[in-house]
Amino acid sequence: PISFIAIGGGVVGDLTGFAASTYMRGIDFIQVPTTLLACVDSSVGGKTAIDTDYGKNLVGTFYQPKAVFINPNFLKTLDERQFKTGLGEVVKYSFIEKSCKCEEDLNLTNFLSEKAEMIVNRDERVLSKLIEICVKLKISVVEKDEKEGGLRRILNFGHTYGHAIEKITKYKKYTHGEAIVEGMKFAFNLAVKRNLIDKNYKFLAEDVIKKFNFVDIPEFDMEKMIELMQMDKKATFDKIVFILPTDYSTVEAFELDSKDLL
Ligand SMILES: NC(=O)c1ccc[n+]([C@@H]2O[C@H](COP(=O)([O-])OP(=O)(O)OC[C@H]3O[C@@H](n4cnc5c(N)ncnc54)[C@H](O)[C@@H]3O)[C@@H](O)[C@H]2O)c1
Ligand SMILES: [Zn+2]
Repeated sequence: PISFIAIGGGVVGDLTGFAASTYMRGIDFIQVPTTLLACVDSSVGGKTAIDTDYGKNLVGTFYQPKAVFINPNFLKTLDERQFKTGLGEVVKYSFIEKSCKCEEDLNLTNFLSEKAEMIVNRDERVLSKLIEICVKLKISVVEKDEKEGGLRRILNFGHTYGHAIEKITKYKKYTHGEAIVEGMKFAFNLAVKRNLIDKNYKFLAEDVIKKFNFVDIPEFDMEKMIELMQMDKKATFDKIVFILPTDYSTVEAFELDSKDLL
C-alpha cells in the first residue's frame, strides 16, 4: 500500500497528514520535520489542518503518523527568524513543564538557562537534547488527552493573546513564535495581577525569554484584542479561556470575562 512521507516544516506536515488521513479514508504517513517548530510541536501529537479563506486551521483531522524521524542537521539552513519562532514554542514548554505530568524530571528551564548560547549557535548535540525534551513533554500531554478534552489545552499557553496579535497584524508582521512569546509575557503579567504568582517568578520567566532576544511587540488596543480573543474558536460563549501560570513551570486554565483583562 502507498504511504506519504512529509519532509518539511509544519505546513508540509499538516497538509500531508490531512491528505493521508482522508485519501482512501486514511493511508499511512511519516513525518520528517525540518523546522524547529515542526520538530518540537507540529510533527508530534497528530493534529492535521489546512487553512481556508474562512480561517486558519479550519479544516482538519486528528491523525497520528506511523513514525516521526528527526535530524537536527536540517535546522542548520533555517533562517534566523524561522529558528526563533520554534524557540518560542520551546520556551513555552519550560513554563508548562510540571503541568505536562511527564514521569521524567526534564528541567527544561535549567537546560535553557545553561545552554542558551549553544542553542542559539545551533550546536547539534544540544539541539538534539533540546528537541528530545520538548517531544517528551508534548507526548506526555497528548497521550493523556489526544483530542483536546482537557489537559491538551495547556499547550495553548501564550496562544490566546498570541493569536490575537497574529490576527491584528494580519499574520504578516510577526511570526507565530514571536506572537506567543508576547502572549506568554501578557499571561505572566495577568497572573501577577490576579495574585496567582509572585513577581519574582515573573522576573525569572522574563529572564529566560530575554536570553533568546525575541523581538519586542508593542501593545495593541485592548478592546480590539479582546474582540479578537472572543472570536478564537476555543472561546466558549463570551468567556475567554486563558492558560495562566500558577507556580513555577505550572499552568492552569481559567475562564475569564473580558473585564478581567482590562
Ligand atoms: N499540527 C500541529 O499540531 C501544529 C502545531 C503547530 C503549528 N502547526 C502549523 O505549522 C505551520 C508552521 O510550521 P513552520 O513554522 O515549520 O512553518 P513552514 O512549514 O511554513 O516553514 C517555514 C519556512 O521554512 C522553510 N524551511 C523548512 N525547512 C527548512 C530547512 N531545513 N532549511 C531552510 N528552510 C526550511 C519552508 O520552506 C518555509 O518557507 C503552521 O501552518 C501551523 O498552523 C501545526
Ligand atoms: Zn503554537
